[in-house]
Amino acid sequence: MQQHTFQLQNGLRVPALIFGTYKTAEEQNEDVLLTAIEAGYRAFDTASFYGTESYLGSAIRKSGLAREEVFITSKLWKTEMGYEGAMAAARRSLEALQTDYLDLYLIHWPLPDPDYADWKALDLETWQALEELYDQGVVKAIGVSNFHPHHIENLLAHGRIAPMVDQMEYHPGHAQEAAVAYCQARNILVQAWSPLGKRRVLGDPLVCALAEKYGVSPAQICLKFALQRGIVPLPKASSLERMRQNRDLFSFELEEEDLYRLTCMPPVGWSGEHPDRPRVRLT
Ligand code: A2P
Repeated sequence: MQQHTFQLQNGLRVPALIFGTYKTAEEQNEDVLLTAIEAGYRAFDTASFYGTESYLGSAIRKSGLAREEVFITSKLWKTEMGYEGAMAAARRSLEALQTDYLDLYLIHWPLPDPDYADWKALDLETWQALEELYDQGVVKAIGVSNFHPHHIENLLAHGRIAPMVDQMEYHPGHAQEAAVAYCQARNILVQAWSPLGKRRVLGDPLVCALAEKYGVSPAQICLKFALQRGIVPLPKASSLERMRQNRDLFSFELEEEDLYRLTCMPPVGWSGEHPDRPRVRLT
């Protein structure tokens, strides 16, 4: 599995599948992460907002893996934006993770709330801190999360270093084609959060029919849908069996027409989140 990677514009190789730690079985995070390591995961996505950094740090330490065998992504939260805020956030993340570098560091959201008028200046100040952390080698790659093309344009126009990654919500029925096409045309690697669409996608009739057609699970259909579009899925799971199943993605290939069907199905798994809008509460 670990031989499957995507290459960033700076040459760094990113694992093609990354274990997501958001709400990782609350209460027993460290055990879940040790199980993920047992299942073979060597790349992890965390964020200061998730509260899972310290669990991840201690799970890695307990596993006995060397730091360079693991790929760690973290993100700074909406309240940690700005130059000083970002510098301090990075220090806190490094401490919580018990490490002296991050493989990838992201700005979690482009603006603290939808009414924040001066987001362009705030993003640039924050980005300047990430550029410096990158120059210092404290972070091996830098990027953004939940940025739409107009947010990225600001960084490309005024920043020194282009974002290398954009992590966004992505699953069948919510394929964010405009944002994905924009990133891929600029060699910005897309990563998919909620690749299983809050489980709602797993029960969708099309996804279930394709699972049957290819002889795999609905979750594997969703994860392969991302991979075949050149996107790194970030699945989370709590049992060893599901963790293993979610890594077993290389013995089948979805046909192009099925990828189109999955792209165009209704957005049954949408979280209700959008960077420029108040959150829509869905039942
Ligand atoms: P669990 O922790 O109970 O395993 P997301 O919206 O982030 O894609 O998450 C969907 C949820 O799907 C996860 O929280 C996880 O819950 C569950 N899940 C993960 N892998 C599988 C799988 N292979 N089959 C069914 N459910 C899964």
